[in-house]
Amino acid sequence: MAREFRTVGVVGLGTMGAGIVEVFARNGVDVLAVEINEAALERGRSTLTGSTDRAVAKGKLSPEDRDALQSRITFAVGLEALDDVDLVIEAVPEKLELKRQIFGELDRICKPAAILATNTSSLSVTEISVATHRPNQVIGIHFFNPAPVMKLVEIIRTVVTSPEVVADVEALCTRLGKVDVTINDRAGFIANALLFGYLNHAVSMYEAKYASREDIDAAMKLGCGLPMGPLALMDLIGVDTAYEILDTMYRRGGRDRRHAPVPLIKQMVTAGLLGRKSGRGFYTYEKPGSPVVV
Ligand code: 3HC
Repeated sequence: MAREFRTVGVVGLGTMGAGIVEVFARNGVDVLAVEINEAALERGRSTLTGSTDRAVAKGKLSPEDRDALQSRITFAVGLEALDDVDLVIEAVPEKLELKRQIFGELDRICKPAAILATNTSSLSVTEISVATHRPNQVIGIHFFNPAPVMKLVEIIRTVVTSPEVVADVEALCTRLGKVDVTINDRAGFIANALLFGYLNHAVSMYEAKYASREDIDAAMKLGCGLPMGPLALMDLIGVDTAYEILDTMYRRGGRDRRHAPVPLIKQMVTAGLLGRKSGRGFYTYEKPGSPVVV
């Protein structure tokens, strides 16, 4: 019989973490949403409130369902709150040492039966798992941005992840209304391994002034039927997150030049042009809203 997940914890309430909390709460699972300090917690809380209020304003969610959804979420500062959850999903920035440190702490705090999962986009789940004494209960659960909308979840098993843990997480994804694909631990898994070479190439075209950002995006959106063009997608993902993913894939994936981040990406990160989250990336954003060309 599949394991029952009564309460899950989500660590990190940035773009991905806040979306993951919403996915669980929407599907009737109690969530403990954890951040490192009050300010970060408040940012996560307001992302969630914004998202659910938008759904109410659009008539997609009744105010009663919104209240029920919100009542399933408990916010807390610090990992100690996670001592009784059945599953933790870590969604902190893509820094291996930070994730390993958090997994070491989670291993100490969480009950022995708890599954520890990472939402990493490209780091080695195996390297994260060996920071714990329970690597057989460590797994990758990779959501896509925006998590409440995108149907796919990649489940990453390491060479020691227990098959029961994989089956339990697959059943959980079905309960969340997601479609899962299960893969071994390799850089970029499936989707990012295919997507990021393309995104990097689009930035290099833009950097070389080969075409305007609008034309690059229009070509892929209108010519190839994608929901958004690559530069708009970079802004959605976060230019900093995209840089970390490319850099990791380049180093882990045999230095394939398709994944060597083009210099403009690093320059934008240094200048704080991080995309939607900072109000400016390849485009400039009014909050909330669609790109405003400047
Ligand atoms: N949170 C919750 N819901 C959101 C949302 C968000 N951040 N953004 C959009 N939505 C919802 C809207 O409310 C709307 O819902 P409805 O259909 O029930 O009314 C629906 O999504 C469509 O949104 P919009 O009408 O505002 O706009 P679009 O039709 O242009 O869709 C989009 C927006 C869903 C973002 C679409 O453009 C899209 O699918 N883009 C591609 C996204 C993508 O490729 N994601 C993967 C990135 S790679 C990744 O995540 C990997 C990671 O490791 C980095």
